[in-house]
Amino acid sequence: MSNFWRELYTPFFCLAPMEDVTDIAFREMFANYSNTADAVSKLVLFTEFTPSDGLAFGDDKAQEKLRAKLSYTDKQRPIVAQIYNSNPGRMEEAACLVQELGFDGVDINMGCPVSAVIKQVSGAALINHPDLAVELIQAVRRGAPNIAVSVKTRIGYSSKSDMNSWLSTVLQEKPDALTVHLRTRSQMSKVPAQWELMPEIVRLRDEISPDTILIGNGDVQSVEQGEDLVLKYGCDGVMVGRGAFGTPDFFNKPIVTQGHKVQMLIEHIRLFDELLLTPGHKGYHVMKKHFKAYIGGWNGAKELRAKLMAAESPGEAIKVLRGGI
Ligand SMILES: Cc1cc2nc3c(=O)[nH]c(=O)nc-3n(C[C@H](O)[C@H](O)[C@H](O)COP(=O)(O)O)c2cc1C
Repeated sequence: MSNFWRELYTPFFCLAPMEDVTDIAFREMFANYSNTADAVSKLVLFTEFTPSDGLAFGDDKAQEKLRAKLSYTDKQRPIVAQIYNSNPGRMEEAACLVQELGFDGVDINMGCPVSAVIKQVSGAALINHPDLAVELIQAVRRGAPNIAVSVKTRIGYSSKSDMNSWLSTVLQEKPDALTVHLRTRSQMSKVPAQWELMPEIVRLRDEISPDTILIGNGDVQSVEQGEDLVLKYGCDGVMVGRGAFGTPDFFNKPIVTQGHKVQMLIEHIRLFDELLLTPGHKGYHVMKKHFKAYIGGWNGAKELRAKLMAAESPGEAIKVLRGGI
């Protein structure tokens, strides 16, 4: 079994799995801009979450769309595919596929707060169904015995009093890595992440599964802040989500000038077009969601953004951006 998590230097960083955000084009941007001597020593990239039932049983068209979520380039390694479902058999099959596709790891989503996912007894609902969560971890291990298996979850469902028993249940399954988003499901992302709970989670990890790599998640806005949190609270790495929007050089030395932001957005649009839009895997509206994060913070940004939002194709958007420099 190969476990890349144990080969990372501490503190390391992960780019969080984010639906319709961390697709192959977005990840390629981070791989390109983190590939310098100044960048953090190791960056782990995650795919968007992918439903296991569709991967295993969808019709050809559905399968093609889902497999596109699991496309990556070698530059993006180490790379982890995130999957979810409440059926152990389907999770086993999906994990097997993830291993066949050459991923470095497979992650189980046990933290998604969205109602449609909760209704399927997936994501954060598993916090209230610990026996099923255990079965799912075991199924994924059976399906992908040669790669690292990890879990991403929250500190509880509606109360942080769930934390000790829930995280102990997960840790007893000895995942290779565990990411804890330091909020409950009920808190969604509305309150500040409770990093002060991390030392208690570290203690549980040390007691139950000392070999599990522990990653903290929530509200990290810079590499420096992430390094401070690791130092202060004792986890091994940090996962960054929203803080990295529009900032492919987040894990390097972010340059916030207008010219650089515009240039990065042009590159991102081109990659999105080539890898996702032209092959028919994603619509242009998905790319549009990134514009606000790139274009902001200087005089005239609002007007440029309005023109950009009105553009109806990658070619038009790039024309607007070139005019805006
Ligand atoms: C647009 C969006 C999509 C997300 N999709 C996923 C997902 O597919 N899988 C997952 O585990 N978490 C998902 N998350 C949660 C993030 O991975 C992360 O846990 C959360 O945003 C907290 O980290 P942050 O404060 O650094 O953003 C998503 C978050 C956002 C904002």
